[in-house]
Amino acid sequence: MRVLILGGDGYLGWATAMYLSRRGSAVAVVDNYFRRCASTELNREPLLPIPNLHQRAALWEAVSGFKVDVHIGSVCDYPFLLDLFRQFQPDAVVHYAEQPAAPYSMMGHKEAVFTLTNNLVSTLNLIHAVKEVNRDCHIVKLGTMGVYGTPNIDIEEGYLEVEHKGRRHRFLYPKAPGSLYHLTKAQDGDMLYFYCRTWDIRVTDLNQGPVYGIDTEESRQDERLGPIFNYDDIFGTVLNRFLVQAVAGTPLTVYGQGGQTRGYLNIMDTMACVELALLHPAETGQYRVFNQFVETFSVNDLANKVKAAGEKLGLQVTIQNIPNPRREAEEHYYNPAHTGLLSLGLKPHFLTAEMMRGMLQTVQKYKDNINSSLIYPKVAWQ
Ligand SMILES: NC(=O)c1ccc[n+]([C@@H]2O[C@H](COP(=O)([O-])OP(=O)(O)OC[C@H]3O[C@@H](n4cnc5c(N)ncnc54)[C@H](O)[C@@H]3O)[C@@H](O)[C@H]2O)c1
Repeated sequence: MRVLILGGDGYLGWATAMYLSRRGSAVAVVDNYFRRCASTELNREPLLPIPNLHQRAALWEAVSGFKVDVHIGSVCDYPFLLDLFRQFQPDAVVHYAEQPAAPYSMMGHKEAVFTLTNNLVSTLNLIHAVKEVNRDCHIVKLGTMGVYGTPNIDIEEGYLEVEHKGRRHRFLYPKAPGSLYHLTKAQDGDMLYFYCRTWDIRVTDLNQGPVYGIDTEESRQDERLGPIFNYDDIFGTVLNRFLVQAVAGTPLTVYGQGGQTRGYLNIMDTMACVELALLHPAETGQYRVFNQFVETFSVNDLANKVKAAGEKLGLQVTIQNIPNPRREAEEHYYNPAHTGLLSLGLKPHFLTAEMMRGMLQTVQKYKDNINSSLIYPKVAWQ
């Protein structure tokens, strides 16, 4: 399969490029280095030093023999994207090229405009390129479980059957995103659904929970192949932040009461889910949605797991509840369905004590790079 990965320099994108190339796909990646530049601009450098995308691809080829074709540019630049489509002729596109941080989107007007424009225009350009070059090309877009919010009923996979005044209809599941970033994910999903109905494109939207983890099988071959791993208040996801705080010897900062429950997955499972979606494409005209996570935890559960695993390694780990910078329910019902990817054959990695130990040990190798002042939240929702 010829797979084009948009956002191929990112946390998930680079790992996916190596993963798919190793399994026999012809892979091309596109990135405009937004994430790297924003990390530098905001003085939130990642934990691991990472070579640039060309160097990563050369290193991966030297280590594995597999090629990844690199293109630097913005998906929001339509002529650039269209040229690339005509040149590479993808059978499928994995779309990661969005601004992925809720706190970034809530920093101020400039960041809000950037998030909205980047995330919607990148998706719109992709749709048009598919229509122009090959309407059969399968779009696999990364969405987020955060589009659903925390409703007081079970969350279904993308759609909800509603009975109203004696009649039934199947709607997209109602969305209640909790940040402007999450709102753009709801909006790009609506846009894809619209174009599935209008132009008969085929789309899989992977509503993913927060991802944790540093290593994949591919990156273990050379530590310079690791992902961009941010642990700061803006780009770091919660478990990754806690792992770094445990190693740095600073308290794990739980936002509010810590009862916020979400579905989590290991970065290795993201790779497997994307591969399953590619191997079993959506039908022509289908907007298919999978909820992509493997187990749910509250923030308190995660903090307690990190504390227990850290203490086994001789670390002194404390937990501190701090005022919640976000507007979100801190105690709520949460029961999302996630059977679609399991029924396609996903074999999940769970957050075992052994998994926690391995991640903490990896962070320990880079302990000298940690700047723990970057973790305490500085962006508030109001
Ligand atoms: N990491 C998670 O926990 C998580 C959870 C749910 C959903 N997601 C979604 O998965 C996708 C990837 O997330 P990630 O954690 O790898 O983020 P990331 O920021 O590390 O990766 C996104 C990449 O896209 C690039 N990019 C952004 N806009 C671009 C543009 N216009 N043109 C070209 N490149 C562009 C960035 O430079 C970056 O390298 C995002 O859409 C994100 O919303 C991630």
